[in-house]
Amino acid sequence: MDGKIRMAIGAIGLGLCLAIGSYCGLGVSLADEPPAKPRRKPDVGYYPTTQDVVEKMLSLAKVTKRDHVCDLGCGDGRFLITAAKQYGCRATGYELDPKLVAKGRAQAREQKLDTLVRIEERDIFTVDVSEVTVMMLFLLPDMNAKLIPQLQKMAPGSRVLAHEFDIPGIQPDQELTWVSKQDNSEHLIYIYSIPLKPRKP
Ligand SMILES: C[S@@+](CC[C@H](N)C(=O)[O-])C[C@H]1O[C@@H](n2cnc3c(N)ncnc32)[C@H](O)[C@@H]1O
Repeated sequence: MDGKIRMAIGAIGLGLCLAIGSYCGLGVSLADEPPAKPRRKPDVGYYPTTQDVVEKMLSLAKVTKRDHVCDLGCGDGRFLITAAKQYGCRATGYELDPKLVAKGRAQAREQKLDTLVRIEERDIFTVDVSEVTVMMLFLLPDMNAKLIPQLQKMAPGSRVLAHEFDIPGIQPDQELTWVSKQDNSEHLIYIYSIPLKPRKP
């Protein structure tokens, strides 16, 4: 058989295999696209923090270039991208929704911040945060409570800021309400430091 004809038949065969594999859900894909759905149901839905609250929380945390900022359940990565852009620090986020992970990574790449920003498709309850020095949380109270053993592994003096919901049973150093100009709403912000201390009676 002529070489060109053999190559053409091979290419058609490969194309068919990819198409059938993809159709049958075998995970074969030319573009290696992320799965559309999270591998498991997230413990809370996606409610993005307004950009001005993001900036306010980072400033309350007194972030510097030497910090390592983290957002557990990072959504589209806005805390991480803002921290890297404004303070030049490292920033890591974990998120279950692959579409949000892809969006965050794309934005970090576009803004040339991908050397500082890392976003992983991971369950927040399985990650090691011992290297993090500034933690951002916008999760439900029971989730915040479940994270206490992980947060306590952060270095003494590290800061944890929680948006809207506190960490049950833990004494904040400061709690404040702040009005966002973007949604004209009051936002609760809780500031903690490591080691976390039991709430005063
Ligand atoms: C309220 S949103 C906050 C998003 C972002 N931190 C912000 O402030 O803009 C909570 C996020 O946590 C994610 N999430 C929920 N459970 C999770 C889990 N177990 N592991 C990783 N991400 C989770 C959701 O998909 C959602 O994007």
